This record gives sequence, C-alpha cells and structure tokens, in this order.
Amino acid sequence: MSDGGTFSGYSGARGSSASEMPPLVRTPVPSLTETATVSDPLPFERPLAAESAPSAPSGEAAPTPVLGPTGRPMIDLPEPRQLTEHGNARVMSMCNQKGGVGKTTTTINLGAALAEYGRKVLLVDFDPQGSLSVGLGLNPHEMDLTIYNLLMQRDVTIDDVIVPSGVPGMDLLPSNIDLSAAEVQLVHEVAREQTLQRVLAPALPNYDVILIDCQPSLGLLTVNALTASDGVIVPLECEYFALRGVALLKTTIDKVRERLNPKLEIDGVLGTMFDGRTLHSREVMDRLVQAWGDKVFHTVIRRTVKFSDATVAGEPITSYASGSTGAEHYRQLAKEVLARSLHPTDSSAPPLRSSADDSAGTPRE
Ligand SMILES: Nc1ncnc2c1ncn2[C@@H]1O[C@H](COP(=O)(O)OP(=O)(O)OP(=O)(O)O)[C@@H](O)[C@H]1O
Ligand SMILES: [Mg+2]
Repeated sequence: MSDGGTFSGYSGARGSSASEMPPLVRTPVPSLTETATVSDPLPFERPLAAESAPSAPSGEAAPTPVLGPTGRPMIDLPEPRQLTEHGNARVMSMCNQKGGVGKTTTTINLGAALAEYGRKVLLVDFDPQGSLSVGLGLNPHEMDLTIYNLLMQRDVTIDDVIVPSGVPGMDLLPSNIDLSAAEVQLVHEVAREQTLQRVLAPALPNYDVILIDCQPSLGLLTVNALTASDGVIVPLECEYFALRGVALLKTTIDKVRERLNPKLEIDGVLGTMFDGRTLHSREVMDRLVQAWGDKVFHTVIRRTVKFSDATVAGEPITSYASGSTGAEHYRQLAKEVLARSLHPTDSSAPPLRSSADDSAGTPRE
C-alpha cells in the first residue's frame, strides 16, 4: 500500500551538497523496491462498490457529509478580505517536471482570479517555451527585453522588463527561447541558484503575490524558482502516469529547503484535468489524498476545452469565459490559496488541516 511516510526516508538517501542539485535530473531515480510511494506504478486497489460512488475515507456507509471531488468533505472557503495596502509579496512556484499538467494554465488563471480579489499579482514566465507569455497574448518574437536580460545583464532592472498582462492588477515578466541559454550560462555564475531570487527582490514591495511558471524539468532554472519561492504549488493531472515522478519532485523540494531556502513549503497539490465521470480520475485523487493528505487542495480543476480556447484568445478563462466552471474553479482555488498560505492567521479562515493522514510527511509549518 502506498504510504507517503516513505517520502522522507527516500529523500534523505541521496546527495550531499547543493552543487549536486542541478544534475539531479540526469541521475537515475533510486529503486523503490522495499516501500511503495505515490509514484509507484502499482495497480489500483479497486473495491467492488467503487464504481457506484466515491468511497468515504472510512469505507463505511452513512454518506452524511457532501464529499468533494477529492473524496473529502468540502470546506467552506471564506471570501477574501479586501486589502488596504499592498506589498511584501508571497512568491509561489508552479512546479512539476512532468509536461502538460497545467502549470501554465494554473499560473495564468490563478493569477487572474487573485487579481479579481484585489491582489496585485506578478506572473513570472520562467520557461523558455514562453507559453505563459503567449497565453497572455504576447508575441515571443516581438519582445525587446525578457527575463533572460534581467538574469544576465546587470544594467537591466525588473521595471524595464515588466509588462502589463492585459488583466487589471496583474503584470508579467515575459520569457522566450532566449531563457534556455541562461540555464547554460548561469552554471558559471557565483550563487547561480539565487539569481532569480536576487532579481525579483526589488519587486516584492509592489505586489501581493508573485507566481512563477516553471519549465517541465528539475534543472537549474527550476532550482532557481524554488530558491526564490516561499511556497510551491504542484499541479498534477488526474491521470495515472502523472503520479510517477512526484517522489523525485518531493526530493528536489526537500533538498532546496535543506540547502538553499529553509522557508520553502509545499502550499498544495492541485488535481487538474479531473473528469469526475471516470472512476480512473477518482482513483487518482484517492491515491493523491492517501499520500499527501491535506496538502491536496479541496479545489480540483476539471477537464474542459474552454482552457484551450482561452489560450488561443490570449486571455485568462476568468475573462474569456467568466461564468464557466473553469473560471469558477480557479476563483475557488484563489480563495483556498489565500486562506491556506497567504492569510493563515485570518480568523475567518477554515481549519485547513483535518484529521486526515498527512502521510506525505510534509508538514506546512
Ligand atoms: N483543466 C483542463 N482541461 C482541459 N485542458 C487543459 C486543462 N488545463 C490545461 N489544459 C490544456 O492542456 C495543455 C497543457 O496545459 P499547460 O500548458 O498549462 O501545461 P504545463 O504543465 O504548463 O505544460 P508544460 O510542462 O509544457 O509547460 C494546454 O493545451 C492547456 O490548454
Ligand atoms: Mg507550461
């Protein structure tokens, strides 16, 4: 059976210095023979009754509470409080080395939803694919300055590079293929892992939230993003293969926390492309909750073609299809993120840690 508690033992088993971190992506994953983790390609245990209804955690009858898509009782999320002043941004990375899991989609739409709630938001495109910039309507070939210039040229300031995103209250640090050169060039820099942190620092007083869209790898750019962040959001497609590799991501996050950024915490694991009609999606969610406990957001993003349509239109779903379920889910995620990690002391915030097993061994505080 999967037991998230195995993560911690696994993560401490390898590596000894920060300088080893970038090549981590090229080293083989240690074999997981003795103990199962969430990434193991084990078959699901499919109870006979599971086809008819998502099972309650206890496995007993009495379906009294309304269960959400994660199989846990839904919680009431408070309306975000209005801010009277801005600043001291919390930096959060969207991170998963697997491609196409919804990192960029989540960055755009969570950012736009937070902006709707009055937060000043900066999106950082930290992927040489430049999908975040393109998804907000920018032409990658018409950018004068990108985050590459900010990272590599001392005379370029963050204000030179920031552009409006088209969404009120939300700005963008754009990127294009130039950024791929930075990964090579940064290797020779002093404090190469802290480069992004250093260039973002002047913007912290101007924003409430900074969201970094990572590339699908665990190389030096992603280590830079994690080093610059207070928290990580792990978008994860509700599909069986998506579970593989999560243990490696967890190991990388642990190493960055130990060696480079002690304040780094996992803000949450977000199920994306969920299809509640299929048993498969529900089983993946069950498995996630089993391994990550309350780290799994109650909000789940369902699969809908509206996201692709919004990308083509170059705007967030919150404005492209404001009344759609996709837009609603990202607004709900924004509320959950605010309650969970941005204003945890807000008295109206719900209890976000329940008695569920936090078996991934990743306590938030
Ligand atoms: N909830 C969803 N339902 C349907 N399609 C989605 C959903 N979320 C994202 N997509 C689509 O899936 C594709 C991949 O999404 P996205 O680019 O956000 O993933 P990513 O993790 O950023 O990918 P990469 O690793 O390549 O950067 C896009 O075409 C996007 O429109
Ligand atoms: Mg992306």
